Amino acid sequence: MIGPSAPYSETLMFHDMPTDMLERMRELERRDQADRADGTSRLDRLRQIPEETGRFLALWAASAPEGALIEIGTSAGYSALWLSLACRATGRTLTTFEVLPQKAALARETFSRAGVDALVRLVQGDFLNHADQLDRVGFCFLDAEKEVYEACYKAVVPRLVPGGILIADNAINHRETLQPMLDTALADERVDALVVPIGKGELVCRRKAEP
Ligand SMILES: C[S@@+](CC[C@H](N)C(=O)[O-])C[C@H]1O[C@@H](n2cnc3c(N)ncnc32)[C@H](O)[C@@H]1O
Repeated sequence: MIGPSAPYSETLMFHDMPTDMLERMRELERRDQADRADGTSRLDRLRQIPEETGRFLALWAASAPEGALIEIGTSAGYSALWLSLACRATGRTLTTFEVLPQKAALARETFSRAGVDALVRLVQGDFLNHADQLDRVGFCFLDAEKEVYEACYKAVVPRLVPGGILIADNAINHRETLQPMLDTALADERVDALVVPIGKGELVCRRKAEP
């Protein structure tokens, strides 16, 4: 207990996960596994992060400075559920962007069934058409098509607040495709960046303060 003025100080993220959320997570994990084995088309596959990446993201999001919490690439909302734990613990909300209507519909079902409608705002559309509306970003999880990673990186980094965090998925399992974007990030003097070997490989970038 930090003190009476810290309203969210008693909410842990991983110790008291709501049953409805856990049930939806397990359902999506089963579907994601089946997708990978049964020949489901790439467009229809959920292509979710593994659980350990979810926990990793939640810890970073809960520690992020002020500013918007955003996700690019919702799919059925699995990673957003992990990020919603950070929202619940810190009294913030997540805005998540999904371009495909059928995935957005699944995500809506996920958020409703998991009881996180008040914590997560879903925007259906291409993130790159919405980036101009963002001002100050405290945390961003990038998990879209690899072809748009560099454009998303270029749209998000200037909007990160000092200390703001950008995490991009697939930095190891899609290293070859993402190499130009990874090279950009690792050489970018606006951020400190590192590829962390957890899950499919996470590029973590932290924005420095303006001089
Ligand atoms: C790898 S999946 C995301 C998985 C999700 N983050 C999870 O772990 O549960 C990538 C998703 O990004 C969406 N997407 C791709 N490009 C996008 C864009 N420019 N804006 C918004 N969504 C995009 C795809 O339709 C797809 O559903």
